[in-house]
Order: sequence, then structure tokens, then C-alpha cells
Amino acid sequence: MSPSLTDTDKMSSELISSAVQVIKAAKNICVLTGAGISAESGIPTFRDKQSGLWERFSAEELANVTAFERDPALVWSWYQWRRGEVKDKQPNPAHFALTTWQQQAEALEHRLCLVTQNVDDLHEQSGSEAIHLHGELWRNHCSSCGAPYEQDIDTQITELVSCPKCGGHIRPSIVWFGEMLPHQAWQSAQRAAATSDVFISIGTSSLVYPAAGLAQLAKAKGAMVIEINPNPTGGQSNRLIDIQLPYPAGQVLPILVNQLAR
Ligand code: APR
Ligand code: ZN
Repeated sequence: MSPSLTDTDKMSSELISSAVQVIKAAKNICVLTGAGISAESGIPTFRDKQSGLWERFSAEELANVTAFERDPALVWSWYQWRRGEVKDKQPNPAHFALTTWQQQAEALEHRLCLVTQNVDDLHEQSGSEAIHLHGELWRNHCSSCGAPYEQDIDTQITELVSCPKCGGHIRPSIVWFGEMLPHQAWQSAQRAAATSDVFISIGTSSLVYPAAGLAQLAKAKGAMVIEINPNPTGGQSNRLIDIQLPYPAGQVLPILVNQLAR
């Protein structure tokens, strides 16, 4: 019985070193992360089936203004449930690898811009700076006057919270379907993608625009595109992607970042 290959052994070192070579030769790198980078931290990805009480809803049904206006208590309690599910989760080796890379970027003569679609704070918890395109789960603001709501809210509280300024319902500062992305964040993300020599898409199904268009923008401007996703998007015929690393981010990113520094 041959010794079972560890997951790392199963990863193609040729494929990883081809990505390392491309990245080493680059100056400007844009990284876009999605829910998949938090999967190994135990946070279900966005298109994973919802569990328990929320099984009968799809995220799309709840994460929109109409749903909140129709039943604010339902949408609020869903976000409180999601916060409860996320609050004890920790960054995984993929998050820490990106933080290490950010710390080494100057020595590597890299300009590294990390953009995320995620609303969890695991990039920040691991020490990274990230541009959040879809908002942040732990921030709230008033749905009527827009004032930020800075007070901590226990995730157990499912009752609606009222704005101290106008009495409106407090809502999570998440970009809901149909809403505009935060202007500054979107401008910065587009600039980083358009000026990148290498664009690395990590843990995203690349289904939701406009974020999913960043890789196309980078490609159109001449960047090499690398994808890290155990379920390659768009199948093998995906012309957008130059190097496909079909591995879990928590396994391949530490190896890749480690080789950059060599
Ligand atoms: N490492 C890398 N990728 C992974 C891993 C992993 N360990 N586990 C799963 N994935 C991949 C899945 O194969 C999938 O392609 O992560 C991707 C997650 O895709 P989605 O669940 O669609 O999440 P995401 O792409 O981030 O969704 C984008 O859609 O619903 C909106 O606003 C929401 O930000 C979200 C956006
Ligand atoms: Zn208000």
C-alpha cells in the first residue's frame, strides 16, 4: 500500500512554480477574493446551501432593499444569525499568506492591492488591509437617514434597532443586490485591476457583477490572470485564465507566497 499522498504532494509543483515565476516578474498585482478564501475558516460560501432555519431562503431573497422594506425584522434577524455564525471564526492559512505577502511587498518590489467581495473581517483579523466591495458584516447604518450606527449590537438581539437620530430602522452596511458598490472602493478596485500586471482571483465563482468584471478588465489591459479555486470557473475552456490552480486556497497560497520570497 503506497503511502497516501498528502494534499500538498498532490498539488502540481510545476503549476505552482509557473504562477510564482509570473508573479515574481510582475510589479503591480491585484488580488480579488471571494467567499472561498473563508471556506477553510468554516464560513459557508455564498452559494452553499443555507443551514437550519434559513434553509428555505436563498441569500438573494434576503439581501435586498425590497426584502428589508417588506419585512425588516426577518432580514435583520438573518444578518444577526449570520454574525453569530461568523463571530468565532478565525482566519485560515490563506488569509495569513496574503498578510505575509502584503508585509513583504516592498522587499519584493510589488505593489499589491487586495480587493474582497467578502463581508467577513478575516482579512483584517489576519492583519491585511482589504478593499471591501460588498460592505462589511459588522458595520451598520440607518436605513432612513444613512447615519452610521457605531454602537455594538449583541448578535443575540433579533429585535429591530432604531436610529437615535431619526428613529429609522438600523440595517447592516452590506451592499444589497441592486445597490451601487461603495464609490471609492469600486474606483480603487478598477484602478488596481486596470493597472495590474497579474490579476489573481481567489475563491470566487465570478458570477456576480460588477466585481466579476475586474478580471476581464485586467485581461483587456494585458494582465496575466491566475485563478485559485478547487472548482475552476468557466470550465477548462475559460480563455480568461492563464494559470489555473485548482486547489484550496488554504493549501496553495502559503506555498506560493513562500516561494515568492525565495
Ligand atoms: N479555496 C478556494 N476557493 C474555494 C474554496 C477553497 N478552499 N472552497 C470553495 N471555493 C470556491 C468555490 O468553488 C466557489 O467557486 O469559492 C467560490 C465561492 O463562490 P460563491 O459562493 O459564489 O461566493 P462569491 O464568488 O464570493 O460570491 C460573490 O455574490 O452573493 C454575492 O455578495 C455576495 O460577495 C458575494 C458575491
Ligand atoms: Zn436615521
